Amino acid sequence: MNPSSRAPPHTQDTQDSSMLVHDVGSDTALPNGHLPERDSAPAARSSAASLFSLAGTTTIVTGGGRGIGQALAKGIAETGGSVACLDILAEPSNGEGEWDAIKKAAAKHGVTASYHVCDITNEERMLETFAEIERTSKGVVRGVVAGAGVQQMVPAIDYPMDGFRRIMEINVAGAFVTAKTSAKFWRDRGIKGSLVMIASMSGEIANRGLTCTAYNSSKAAVHQMCRSLAQEWGPDYGVRINTLSPGYIRTAMTDALLKEKPDLEETWMRGAMLQRLGAPEDLVGPTVFLLSDASAWMTGSDVRVDGGHTASA
Ligand SMILES: NC(=O)c1ccc[n+]([C@@H]2O[C@H](COP(=O)([O-])OP(=O)(O)OC[C@H]3O[C@@H](n4cnc5c(N)ncnc54)[C@H](O)[C@@H]3O)[C@@H](O)[C@H]2O)c1
Repeated sequence: MNPSSRAPPHTQDTQDSSMLVHDVGSDTALPNGHLPERDSAPAARSSAASLFSLAGTTTIVTGGGRGIGQALAKGIAETGGSVACLDILAEPSNGEGEWDAIKKAAAKHGVTASYHVCDITNEERMLETFAEIERTSKGVVRGVVAGAGVQQMVPAIDYPMDGFRRIMEINVAGAFVTAKTSAKFWRDRGIKGSLVMIASMSGEIANRGLTCTAYNSSKAAVHQMCRSLAQEWGPDYGVRINTLSPGYIRTAMTDALLKEKPDLEETWMRGAMLQRLGAPEDLVGPTVFLLSDASAWMTGSDVRVDGGHTASA
C-alpha cells in the first residue's frame, strides 16, 4: 500500500475530538522504528484548510485575563476551539466587553470559554488548574499558550534586586512551570500537544530608549528555554514548543511604559515598517498556526511578529 494513501486516525475531517490528537501508531512505523516521512506529515493527508483547525481541542491561555491573552482567547474560540483563560487577576477584564466577546465567540461556535484564577509560579495550583480545565471544558487539552508576563522599566544601575528577581520569577520560572505542567499533562495522557511561549523581540534586541534589562533578559531566557525543552520533549513525548515574539503591541503593559515616557511612541514609530504599532489581534493568526497541525514540523523555533521592527537598524 502507498503509505501516503493510508488514513491515520487524526487526519480525517471530523469534529470528534479524539480524532484530532496526534497518534502516529505502531502500524505506521517501519521495522527500524522510524516513521515513513510522508505518513507522519499531517499536511500530506489533510486539506490545507483543515490543517489550521482547532476543532475538538481546548487551549489553555496563561495571561488570559487581559491584553494579548484575551485577544488570543477570542481568536481561538473563533477558530472553533475551546479556550480556558488562566490568570492571577480575580476577574477577567471586561471594561470594554472583552470577556463578553470571548464568551459570545465560544457560544457561536459551540465551544467552551472558562476563566481560572491561578498564579503561574505556583506549581501545585497549576497542576490542579489543568485538571480542573480538563474536567470542565469541551475538547482535548492539546494547546497551551504561555502568555502571562510582567514588565518593568528601571535603569539597570539602580535596579532593585527584588524587582529583578520578581521579573525572573514570573517571566522565566513561571514560564517554566507552565511548560513543565503542560508536558506532564500531555505525557500522562499520550497527547502530542503544542506549547506556544510568548517571548518578545526584546529577547533578541535591546529596545532603543527603554531601560528594561530584567525584562529583556527574561525573554531571551524564554527563547533558550524553548529550544532546550523542544530537544528534550520532542523525541520523548512528541510535544512541540515554539516561541512567538511580538514587537510593540498596544496593551496595558505598553500603555504603562508610554505613560512614564510619552516620547517613546515616536521612537517606536521610527522602526514601524508598516507605519503602525501592533494590535493584540495581529498575533491571532500566528498563534493558531503554531497551535495547529499547520506547523506540525516546527519545534524549537521562534516566530517574530513585529511589523518589521527588528529587521532594520
Ligand atoms: N504588549 C507588548 O508590546 C508585548 C510585546 C512583546 C511581548 N509581550 C508579552 O506578551 C505577553 C502578554 O502581554 P500584554 O501586553 O498582554 O500584558 P498585560 O500586562 O496586559 O497581560 C499580562 C497578563 O499576565 C498576567 N500575569 C502576570 N503575572 C502572573 C502570574 N504570576 N500568574 C498568572 N498570570 C499573571 C497579568 O495579570 C496579565 O493579565 C507577556 O508575556 C508580554 O511580555 C508583550
